[in-house]
Amino acid sequence: MLDGKIVTSKYPLAYHITPEIGLINDPNGLVKFNDRYHVFYQWNPFGTIHKNKCWGHLVSSNLIDWKRMEPALVPSEYYDKDGIYSGSAIVKDSILYLFYTGNVVTSLNEKKSYQCLAISKDGINFEKKGPVFEHPMKYTRHVRDPKVWQDSNLVYWMILGAQKSNEIGDIILYRSDNLIDWEFKGTIFEEELKNMGYMFECPDLLRFGNKDVLIFSPQGIEAKENCFENIYQTGYVVGKFGDNEKFKVESEFYELDRGFEFYAPQSFVVDNRVLLFGWMGCMYPKEEETFPTITEGWIHCLTIPREVKFIDNKIIQQPVMELQKLRRKNELIEIEMDAKKEYRQFLKNPFAEILINFVQSPAQFSLNVSESFFIEYSKDLQRLKITRKNWYTLKEESRVGFLSGELKDLQIFLDGSSIEIFTNKGSLVMSSRYIVEHTLERYLTFNGSSLCGKISIFPLEGGKNDE
Ligand code: FRU
Repeated sequence: MLDGKIVTSKYPLAYHITPEIGLINDPNGLVKFNDRYHVFYQWNPFGTIHKNKCWGHLVSSNLIDWKRMEPALVPSEYYDKDGIYSGSAIVKDSILYLFYTGNVVTSLNEKKSYQCLAISKDGINFEKKGPVFEHPMKYTRHVRDPKVWQDSNLVYWMILGAQKSNEIGDIILYRSDNLIDWEFKGTIFEEELKNMGYMFECPDLLRFGNKDVLIFSPQGIEAKENCFENIYQTGYVVGKFGDNEKFKVESEFYELDRGFEFYAPQSFVVDNRVLLFGWMGCMYPKEEETFPTITEGWIHCLTIPREVKFIDNKIIQQPVMELQKLRRKNELIEIEMDAKKEYRQFLKNPFAEILINFVQSPAQFSLNVSESFFIEYSKDLQRLKITRKNWYTLKEESRVGFLSGELKDLQIFLDGSSIEIFTNKGSLVMSSRYIVEHTLERYLTFNGSSLCGKISIFPLEGGKNDE
């Protein structure tokens, strides 16, 4: 989207946040401050491996066009010398507070983490204030990713991903009245979660009326058939963060995105909307080491911004409305599906939003985006399946997601090397990177039994540099 990547890359991303060079991972410090959206992100400016993390910084007036700023926070002090790790932002008295984890490796190779504060009056220059509390007892050095919010009683809360001394994943809680003095409250869970792995990263708490949703990214969950097949997972539990300062879990752990690389998302609330970016992202080491963009000196991207809603006790994710500004309206392609078996459409470049609305659910449906990515639906199995050709193994691999009813609609954001699929108004979301070599052309083939409805394809503009 920015820095000419749309023009120069063989695997271009026209409207996703990418690093100008190097590696991007988690979205951090998401906030609207002084009328501008700020997205900070984990960034290694010096290479495509997970080292030298600082906070890259982008600013936007509309969530579509971004201005790249100088990095907001870079390693410099004893408490963050080996990496500015993930964290969040909050505004108090017109001052922007950034909470982050300082990563440190001592000369004796001992690893430490510090939870730190930096503040800013203008959203451009940041002043580090150092660690805000001591490392908690009974936890290993794996404590990180502070997420801070204020409740309706004006109390501030911070949650952190953590690992107990017995190497069980946990989320810990702190309380504050002023964002400066923090009181440790121990685990957030009323009851310990079972079989959920050895570490929870990037926790986030979302409130919807009288329900709370705890999102986190556990490491070490065992794969089950059709579930938890990525290297690490991201999902949520529904429940209640109550007066006892504990979270009572009332649901199972649901994966937030049933595709391949989605990880470490962060939400923020703006004008009564809950918005979220995730990292697309999290790969098995060999896949990451061989990802084709590495030859161009960069790797990974964030997801498109999504609006999060809570309907029937589940999270719904939809692309933010602002993305409609990217539509090249006068190039709209419309296809009426009138019960034929197959429809085809050629795209001269891979930047498109594809909307499919069925009058009635087909028994089967498939969409081939290229020889290396396709989507299949089966009404009998109530299942959507995505398959891609893996760039490392060169084999096909799949992920599946289940629908609670029939397939009614698909909204697909296709970019040069990523795809995000929103099904039935965002109740099932599947995201993936995919690689097509040698061409930016895409041949879409829609196939199925008695397809009735409409396909609308909007070719998309790239995001611009925001001034
Ligand atoms: C998640 C994560 C965080 C950490 C950051 C380091 O992807 O491992 O837990 O703060 O990335 O880059």
